[in-house]
Amino acid sequence: MSRFHEPQHPDFQRLNASIGFDKRLWPQDLAGSRAHARMLAARQIISSADRDALLKGLDVLERELAQDCFRFDQDDEDIHMAIERRLTEIVGAVGGRLHTARSRNDQVVTDLALYTRERAIAAQGAVRELMQALLTRAEEHLEWPMPGYTHLQRAQPVYLSHHLLAYFWMFLRDQERFAFAARQAGRLPLGAGALGGVNFDTDREMVAHELGFTEVAPNSIDAVSGRDFVLDYLAAAATCATHLSRLGAELVLWSSSEFGFCELPDAWSAGSSIMPQKKNPDAAELLRAKAPRVVGHLAAFHGVLHALPLTYNKDLQEDKEHLFDAVDTIELALAAARGMIVGVSFHRERLAEASADEMLAATDIADLLVARCDLPFREAHGVVAGLVRTAVDSGRTLSQLKPQELAEHSPALAERSEEYYDALRHQSWLESKISAGGTSTARVREQIEAAKDALAGEV
Ligand code: ARG
Repeated sequence: MSRFHEPQHPDFQRLNASIGFDKRLWPQDLAGSRAHARMLAARQIISSADRDALLKGLDVLERELAQDCFRFDQDDEDIHMAIERRLTEIVGAVGGRLHTARSRNDQVVTDLALYTRERAIAAQGAVRELMQALLTRAEEHLEWPMPGYTHLQRAQPVYLSHHLLAYFWMFLRDQERFAFAARQAGRLPLGAGALGGVNFDTDREMVAHELGFTEVAPNSIDAVSGRDFVLDYLAAAATCATHLSRLGAELVLWSSSEFGFCELPDAWSAGSSIMPQKKNPDAAELLRAKAPRVVGHLAAFHGVLHALPLTYNKDLQEDKEHLFDAVDTIELALAAARGMIVGVSFHRERLAEASADEMLAATDIADLLVARCDLPFREAHGVVAGLVRTAVDSGRTLSQLKPQELAEHSPALAERSEEYYDALRHQSWLESKISAGGTSTARVREQIEAAKDALAGEV
């Protein structure tokens, strides 16, 4: 029997159905159903014979779904209905007992929490692998000078190891964000029923324990309407994707002939259909371009939850496509980033040449004026700006300026001209960055040790 006189309009069915995308929740749906059936029997809400029949039927379903021979029906609205329909076909009327003390509202959010936690843990693993690759490459390139940039203009030389480690720390924070999302998905919604609880004395702790939830959601209304764990995953993924886009962008720039800092591995590069000489950094470009898509899912799902009255509304079905696409995108992007970092080869000479640009020592000369001539930094900055201008205007480098030209800008500096020429000759400005977190080898070594500790520790 149905309360309706008319069948559903086919376009409404298409609008309403989620089976096309929520199929992927079948493993979680089966796990949830098994735990629920065991709990119902333990509380004598169903008989143990019924429980066994249900569990057997669920085993058959699992085989069909895993082997991709599960036959979906035209009328299957979502994976939960499809599984219940097929279960009843297999085990008969007892299949209808599985939904005792359960609603699709608490069922669907339980499946999604299980899925989100699983993928958040997987993302943590993928981020760790990328961090490990960055750390290995940093150790291999400990003392390789390269220019550091601000405004994409050469600013101060740094070691390549230091630059690679910058990404390590970014991704450590991303890993923490994914860990937070996994914890947020750790409260069991099942048992909340449609919204107000169920008319049976269920054992939610038992279900939580079997499914690996750390606690039971304490409020049934919140349990069926809450999706902020999805927002937490999406936020973690969006930030991580944005970090990957910065890495991708640098790989694109660095692998160009203009920079010539690195060559990407063939396995992560593409050719051109017309220009046979080309080796294009398509994967790195896609790291750059995928980020706004993940951020878009976060923004869109905020839109879905915005001002949504409690409790369950069909709007909530829109959680899935945003989440699933974000999961697929970030997992693939993380694998690509790792592949590129593992396989990229850096060009030592080119990096060194670009970082030997004497103008990069401008800050060091200003600091020399501060430390040796007791000038206030702002004044020293002005003196060096003048020196740079004289050098640039006459097409020379800083070390090609004559002592008397130094005197015109700063008599105090002229008195210490030897130190001036020495600083420029020895290019000691990398090792002079001795502050904690700075680029001197000793500090980078410290960072590498700290990074190893961070990788070894639990987040
Ligand atoms: N497919 C639905 C979803 O994804 C399942 C829950 C349906 N519940 C309901 N009361 N209609 O949200």
